[in-house]
Amino acid sequence: MSIAMANEAPGAFQGTLTDKLKEQFDAGLLSGQELRPDFTIAQPVHRYTSIDHAIWRKLYERQAEMLRGRVSDEFLQGLATLGMEKDRVPDFDQLNETLMRATGWQVVAVPGLVPDEVFFEHLANRRFPASWWMRKPEQLDYLQEPDCFHDVFGHVPLLINPVFADYMEAYGKGGLKAAGLGALDMLSRLYWYTVEFGLIRTPQGLRIYGAGIVSSQGESIYSLDSASPNRIGFEVRRIMRTRYRIDTFQKTYFVIDSFEQLFDATRPDFAPLYEALRAQPTLGAGDIAEGDLVLNAGTREGWADTEDI
Ligand SMILES: [Fe+2]
Repeated sequence: MSIAMANEAPGAFQGTLTDKLKEQFDAGLLSGQELRPDFTIAQPVHRYTSIDHAIWRKLYERQAEMLRGRVSDEFLQGLATLGMEKDRVPDFDQLNETLMRATGWQVVAVPGLVPDEVFFEHLANRRFPASWWMRKPEQLDYLQEPDCFHDVFGHVPLLINPVFADYMEAYGKGGLKAAGLGALDMLSRLYWYTVEFGLIRTPQGLRIYGAGIVSSQGESIYSLDSASPNRIGFEVRRIMRTRYRIDTFQKTYFVIDSFEQLFDATRPDFAPLYEALRAQPTLGAGDIAEGDLVLNAGTREGWADTEDI
C-alpha cells in the first residue's frame, strides 16, 4: 500500500484537525503548548521518544537506499545540502538555518492538517507546515495522514531548489485565489499530481519527485517499474480535470520535463481556465483522454474499482 495521505489534498480535508488536536491534547503531548492563530506550534522536540527516533532512522535508511537511481537529482541535492538528520527526527530550527539561506523557505510545526486557507497562506509566505509527530511502528508502510517523515523527508529537500521553491509559493498564492473562485477541487488535483505524485523525465530515465512517492517504499517501486499505471506528459488543463486515488497507488502519473516547465505552465492567471474547465466533465483517475501525450498506457492490472476522489 502507498502512504496515501487521505484527505491531504487541499480542499479535501475538513474536521481532521480537531480530531488530531484533541488526540494530542488528550495524550498530554501538547500540554503547555500554545497553538498560534496560524495553527503552528513550537516543535515539541522534547516529546519525541526513542521509538520516534528509531522509526525516523528506519524509514530514512530504507528510503535513502530505495531512492538511489529512482529519485530526481534535485531531491538528492536538497537532501545533501540540508544535511538532514538520519538517526533522529530533525530539529526544524536547524533545518531552517540552511533552508532560509538557500531559498527563504522555512518549515513550521503544526499538530496536523490545517484548514485550506491557512495552508495556502503559509505556502504563499514560504512556510511549509509540517506535522511534528511521527507515525507508529505499525504504520511504517501506510498511514492516512501526513506525519513528520512524509512532510519533512518527502517535501523539504525540494524546497532547496530555487525553481521548485518558487512553484510552491505560487501554488499558495494560487490557492488563496482559487478558494475565492470556488475552484479548489481543480487546483487540488494539480498539487496531487505534481507536489505529491509527480514524475520527471531525465536523460537517465524517469525519476520521482513527488513527496507522496518519495516517502513510500511501495510506491517508489510501483510508480517507476510497474506496467499497471498510465504515465502521461504533464498538461495543466488535463490534470485539473483528473480525479485521483487516496487509498491506493495512483492509476496515472503525470510526467514533467523540468521544474521550469512546471513553474512556467502555472504562471498564467487560472481564473479563465477554471471557467472553461468547469463546463467539461472530469476524467477518472485511470482514463486516457484525446490529446494525451501517452508515455505508457497502463495494463490496469490490480486497479481498484472503487470511486476516485
Ligand atoms: Fe504531502
